[in-house]
Amino acid sequence: MQPRYIITIDGPAGSGKSTVGRLLAAALGYLYLDSGALYRLVAWQAARLDLDLADAQALNAFLEGFQPEMASDSQGFHLWVEGREVTPLLREPQVTQASSRVAVLPRVRSWVTEKLRHWAQNGGVVAEGRDLGTVVFPQAEVKFYLDAALEVRAARRGLDWQKEEVTLPPEKVAQELAERDRRDATRAASPLRAAAEALVIDTTDLNPQEVVERCLARIREVLPAGCGPDVELEMKTG
Ligand code: C5P
Repeated sequence: MQPRYIITIDGPAGSGKSTVGRLLAAALGYLYLDSGALYRLVAWQAARLDLDLADAQALNAFLEGFQPEMASDSQGFHLWVEGREVTPLLREPQVTQASSRVAVLPRVRSWVTEKLRHWAQNGGVVAEGRDLGTVVFPQAEVKFYLDAALEVRAARRGLDWQKEEVTLPPEKVAQELAERDRRDATRAASPLRAAAEALVIDTTDLNPQEVVERCLARIREVLPAGCGPDVELEMKTG
C-alpha cells in the first residue's frame, strides 16, 4: 500500500484554501479536513447554549462532552450535531465573526487540534486552516501557505455569501475580512503565519485549477518517487 501523507494549507480568509484543499484531496483520494469549520462549530454551539466563554470551567465541561460527527467527500467537509447536519449554518456572518473570537481561546484550540489529529491518525489528509503546518501537524510532509490581495479575497467571499443568499455590501465584506485577519494574525495562541518550509502561493491572479496544479507539482517534487500523484493524474473535480 502507498504511504499516506499529511498535506497542510494555511492562509487568511478568502485566499482559496477551501476550494484548493477540496480539489487537492479529491485528486489524491485523501480526506479533506477544514479546521475553520470546527472553530465555527464551537462558536455556533456555544451561542446556542448561551455559554459564557469567559467561564473556563463551563467551557471545559462543554468541550469535553461535545462530540460532533464529521464526513468528508468531494463536496467538502460536513459536520453533524445530535444527528443533524449543521454545515450550512456555520457560514452565516454572525458565526463567522464569532469563530475568530472563540479561536483566541487556548482551550478551544486544543479541542480542535485534538479532533484534527484523531481524524488524521492514518494519514492521507489535506488539512486547511491557520496553524495546520505550524502547530497542528508540524510533521506534515508537504505544506502550503496561500495568500491574495485583500480586495480579491473580499470579492471571493462576497460571491460565497451571495450563493448562500446573504447580501452584504462589498465594503462590509472587506471590513469583516480585515478585522478577522487582524485577530487571527495578532492573537497569542497559534497566530496565522506560514511555516518556514511552506510553499507560499499568491493566488491573486490564479484560478483554483492553476493553484492545484502548482500544489501537485510541489507534491511530486517533495514526496519520494512513486509516492506522489502520477504525472498523468486526472483531476477529479467532483
Ligand atoms: O477558515 P474559516 O474562515 O472558516 O475560519 C474561521 C475562523 O476560525 C478564522 O477566522 C480563524 O479565527 C479561526 N481558525 C483558526 N485556526 C484555524 C482555522 C480557523 O484560528 N486553523
